[in-house]
Amino acid sequence: MLNWKRIWIILLAVLMLFSAAGCAGKAQTQSESRIGIISAMDNEVSLLLSEAEIDHVETIGSVEFHVGTLHGQPVVIMRSGIGKVMAASAATAMLNNYQISNVIFTGIAGAVGDETQVLDQVIATRLVQHDYGTMTNEGFVWASGVDGEDDDEKGYYFCDPDLVTLAYDSAVQVMGEEHVFKGTIATGDQFVASEEYVKTLQQSFDAIACEMEGASIAAVCTQYEVPFVVIRTMSDKADGNAHESVDNMGDLAADNSSRIVIQMMDAMRS
Ligand code: ADE
Repeated sequence: MLNWKRIWIILLAVLMLFSAAGCAGKAQTQSESRIGIISAMDNEVSLLLSEAEIDHVETIGSVEFHVGTLHGQPVVIMRSGIGKVMAASAATAMLNNYQISNVIFTGIAGAVGDETQVLDQVIATRLVQHDYGTMTNEGFVWASGVDGEDDDEKGYYFCDPDLVTLAYDSAVQVMGEEHVFKGTIATGDQFVASEEYVKTLQQSFDAIACEMEGASIAAVCTQYEVPFVVIRTMSDKADGNAHESVDNMGDLAADNSSRIVIQMMDAMRS
């Protein structure tokens, strides 16, 4: 005979069973090591999301984390929002909430090197915050926020050499060798649309591309000791025509950079 006491005990047991299953599922997801893929804007993740098999989406601090596989590789794909603060905050949430083996940042950038042209690819070997320093009576004086072993390294965050090689080889496969460059990316909270500032970025930092998130992701990954690489397709020349160029070429450039990430996934599998 079922009485109320028995019904309550059965209900409680069923509830406990469900909650234990839920916890097990979550723990399993989070203990699996994943590649973290980050972009700043929607058009920079759209091709990746359409190519991925997404198991579920979790929202942390208003940022959506898409958990699944991309061409067979376990990934978390996330759009951080634009600028150093949004990128650093979302990267920190990613590294705190998932087991991330490597981080790949993909997106568009302004071409700064004399040789880098619109739709060329830059694989960062190192990144620097070009807008970090002191505003003096004589103007802005850059000051490194990063210690380095020697003076040449001060202020720079270095990408993982194996990821750089993988990204470079993948980019060459997708774009052809003549369109792929390795070098320094300069990051700041400014959209650069100035020929004069392009010269400063070249001369002061040896930069070949500029954008608004890479060095902040690099700083977070360095703190957490997670290997990272930043790859960017050039959408503009960071000159007076930069806004128009991004309007015309931005989506194509974003897709091209995503194609290289996909090629990286394929290369990891083989
Ligand atoms: N992202 C794409 N183009 C850029 C530019 N010119 N400056 C900063 N970030 C960019």
